[in-house]
Amino acid sequence: MKLLILVLIFSLGCLAYPNMNPFVEPQKEERFSDFDMHPHIHRQHATKTGGFAFKEEELTSEYWMNNAKALVEEKVKRTLNTNKARNVIMFLGDGMSHYSLAAARLLIGGEDAKLSFESFPYTASSMTYCVDVQVADSACTATAYLSGVKTNDGEIGVNANATYESCLDGQDESNHVDSIAAWFQRAGRSSGIVTTTRITHATPAGAYAHTTNRDWEDDAEVAESGCDPQIVDDIAEQLVYGKTGKNFKVILGGGSRHFIGKSLTEHGTNGNRIDEKNLIYAWERMDPNRTFVRNRAELMGLNPTEIKQLFGLFSDSHLSYWIDVERDNKQDTMPSLTDMTKKAIEILELEKEGYFLLVEGGRIDHGHHRTQAKHAVTEAVEFSKAIEAALALVNLNETLIVVTADHGHVMTMSGYADRGHDIFGIAGDGTDNKPYMTLSYANGESFPQHSLAGERVDPESLNEYINNINEMKFPATVAREDETHGGEDVGVWAIGPWSHLFQGTLEQNVIPHIMAYASGVGDGLRACDN
Ligand SMILES: *[C@@H]1O[C@H](CO)[C@@H](O)[C@H](O)[C@H]1NC(C)=O
Ligand SMILES: *[C@@H]1O[C@H](CO)[C@@H](O)[C@H](O)[C@H]1NC(C)=O
Ligand SMILES: *[C@@H]1O[C@H](CO)[C@@H](O)[C@H](O)[C@H]1NC(C)=O
Ligand SMILES: [Zn+2]
Repeated sequence: MKLLILVLIFSLGCLAYPNMNPFVEPQKEERFSDFDMHPHIHRQHATKTGGFAFKEEELTSEYWMNNAKALVEEKVKRTLNTNKARNVIMFLGDGMSHYSLAAARLLIGGEDAKLSFESFPYTASSMTYCVDVQVADSACTATAYLSGVKTNDGEIGVNANATYESCLDGQDESNHVDSIAAWFQRAGRSSGIVTTTRITHATPAGAYAHTTNRDWEDDAEVAESGCDPQIVDDIAEQLVYGKTGKNFKVILGGGSRHFIGKSLTEHGTNGNRIDEKNLIYAWERMDPNRTFVRNRAELMGLNPTEIKQLFGLFSDSHLSYWIDVERDNKQDTMPSLTDMTKKAIEILELEKEGYFLLVEGGRIDHGHHRTQAKHAVTEAVEFSKAIEAALALVNLNETLIVVTADHGHVMTMSGYADRGHDIFGIAGDGTDNKPYMTLSYANGESFPQHSLAGERVDPESLNEYINNINEMKFPATVAREDETHGGEDVGVWAIGPWSHLFQGTLEQNVIPHIMAYASGVGDGLRACDN
């Protein structure tokens, strides 16, 4: 698999690994005598997976000098792209912290490997706090990077004057803020949403919903909070009937259970709705030329020129983690994020006036919440592949691509493993003379598994470490049911028209204003419309 990805990277030509030999073994005792400065290093693990995986040229000064000079030259030659962005594609890696990316690089080739978007010319740092919390959730952040307004934790498409979980505040239009998808629609342009989570989950809902509680994905959840579902619009309803939701040209993701009644089934599961409605049927019936698909074969079989509006739901809840898709050999039945992204772009590219597309890699976050670092990191690699596929389908003269995350996570990467060492392996020894792992979490459900009677458990003694690293729950310092998000800034990577405006440390809610400026939509500043 690793080899396959490397070959893929080679053939796409966006990354070059000249003469890369991951298993070059210099005489490390000589080369790295300064290791004595780190007496705690766990050296017996150095070569477990062919450590010291650097290229022979890295031992020369020229290698580093020439690489750096080439990049400086490239930067100097850059011209600013001040075209109007006909299209904007926003890729959102949920919970995609910088550490997630540093770890993902090891999965695709090494510390110096770059994910598809890491070669984009412009980057910024995005401050993720929300109005009432230091460390944000995916709802208030979606409101910031889609609607341009910060709000309270757990709220979507409303400003912070709306109280969390207030039944009526979410219905009050004076609290509503619209997303850039709505701005595009208002300008007579197209829009779409793609995600690996439920289509009613916080990130995609940020593009179309107004709610004081992100959990109100269906009417049963509204009722559970003590609100009247006759008055309060749940998120699934807002996708089907809402003024923004009903206009999407493309909607692809999971979560069919929120669209159907308890007595109905879809994807082998009963629905959640207490109103017993079938909102999938209702969506289809609104226009005979609408298309609904429920599996990969149906999606892949579509001819983009025949699509008026497309709604695809591929699971009762979230789509499977890619690690599980591969384990169960379901690549032919479960669409990948790349499959969905490609189909969405092929359809939207036919729109003369252009489009806004939101693509979420939604399960990086979920892997982290379970402290299953390999799940999280694999999802980040899948996310990167979807962006690579998009780059091959669009014209960057007229398409702005923005890649970012909503918030970080508390996974960290500890020293001092050798270069090329297994990222899911051991980094060194603690003062308790037990090995510790490179990746660990500040909190999470794995705490009890990794500690016994006040002592750390040797991670190498755990069954999952020995037999199935995919399922390994990485150590956590504090016991918590669910590992938490982190409060660090997240990255923004941009390419295409006006991408050079993504620079410096930005408040997260500035992002859609820049995308709107580039594409000439919304009520704020716009680049001239010629
Ligand atoms: C919040 O909403 C209430 C009710 O609509 C309004 O009276 C009040 O002025 C708003 N507060 C702010 C700070 O806008
Ligand atoms: C559906 O598509 C057909 C063929 O393109 C067209 O003639 C018809 O008007 C469309 N119906 C609606 C309701 O848009
Ligand atoms: C992009 O614009 C440049 C400069 O106008 C032009 O030379 C190039 O052919 C364009 N590329 C595409 C793919 O349209
Ligand atoms: Zn989360």
